[in-house]
Amino acid sequence: MIDSIKTKFKQLFQNDGDLYASAGRVNLIGEHTDYNGGYVFPGAIDKGIVAEIKENGLNKVRVYSIDCDEYCEFGLEEEDKPEQSWACYIFGVCRETIKRGGKVKCFDSVFAGDVPLGAGLSSSAALESTFAFAIEDINGNGFDRFELARIGQSTEHNYCGVKCGIMDQFASCFGKAGSLIRLNCKTMEYKYFPFEPKGYRLVLIDSCVKHELASSAYNKRRESCERAAAAIRANHPEVEFLSDAKRVWLDEVRDRISEEDFIRAEYVIGEVQRVLDVCDALERGDYETVGEMMYQTHFGLSKLYEVSCEELDFLNKLARKCEVTGSRVMGGGFGGCTINLVKDELAEEFIAAATEQFTEKFGHAPKVYNVVISDGARKL
Ligand code: GLA
Repeated sequence: MIDSIKTKFKQLFQNDGDLYASAGRVNLIGEHTDYNGGYVFPGAIDKGIVAEIKENGLNKVRVYSIDCDEYCEFGLEEEDKPEQSWACYIFGVCRETIKRGGKVKCFDSVFAGDVPLGAGLSSSAALESTFAFAIEDINGNGFDRFELARIGQSTEHNYCGVKCGIMDQFASCFGKAGSLIRLNCKTMEYKYFPFEPKGYRLVLIDSCVKHELASSAYNKRRESCERAAAAIRANHPEVEFLSDAKRVWLDEVRDRISEEDFIRAEYVIGEVQRVLDVCDALERGDYETVGEMMYQTHFGLSKLYEVSCEELDFLNKLARKCEVTGSRVMGGGFGGCTINLVKDELAEEFIAAATEQFTEKFGHAPKVYNVVISDGARKL
């Protein structure tokens, strides 16, 4: 990948730049909790984005995406927003840096990635973090990694139409090889947990489906949570985010919110607790409990939060049948991957069964990824 980036850069810009990289992410547990001020438990992975970048002394940014085989150039004023959606991520990162008082010298770039798109592995956060980190490195604006993560998040909000939480960009900016990170999304306190489960591995099974309107459905989930939190706050003013609420406080407002908002909130409050339970279990080396919590999360995401789909529910059931320790839909949902915690000796059999039975039922094969927990944003 690096060779083709360098060759293309030379060919397009007759120059050499510096190489920067960042990563996609997995999340062991803690889904749709980030924008509710709860905990998440992600880690960066060995699949990401690499970009070669060099200041160009012009008044426009020139970028080429190897994977899309498309070139784009844009200025840095708000009205210069490019048409290609991939370029909007880079444009957004530039704009969000400028809005925070940072400098952005125009640059040339060629980039490529190996995070599968639409799999729920945050290829977009990898792209944002690569450029946020590179722009910081080149311009020395003094933004720390938290601010770089927020620049990526605001890019999603203001230039890509997704009101996402901070998890993906945080994982991509703070990722460390061999460790998952438990993040409290309200206080932004975080802790690295070494994750090298002996006798188990993480297997991702990509359903290769991505349902339409995922981003508007995502934004709707967020609105439900905010309405539920507001209703609870009327009784308990200390509730800033839904994650601050006790389960019984939700019951108190059952008549005042819609049934839909109620079950969304019910899921979130349960999930926040599950992250803490999983961290405790991990410290005891109790992978059975970790796995059981993952199944509970899947149930909640499927039946209460309603962000699963037939393909993912099928993969989850199949995992149970194959005695996989833990399995659940990962990321925003509406398609993408399941994350599976599997005993080494069962892994091959499970992968074979999932591939065969999924293909038979849905007419296309799922993809299987083995991931290694790796470093996040960096200069190469
Ligand atoms: C997407 C968002 C994250 C998070 C997850 C669900 O990946 O970008 O902020 O909300 O969905 O946990």
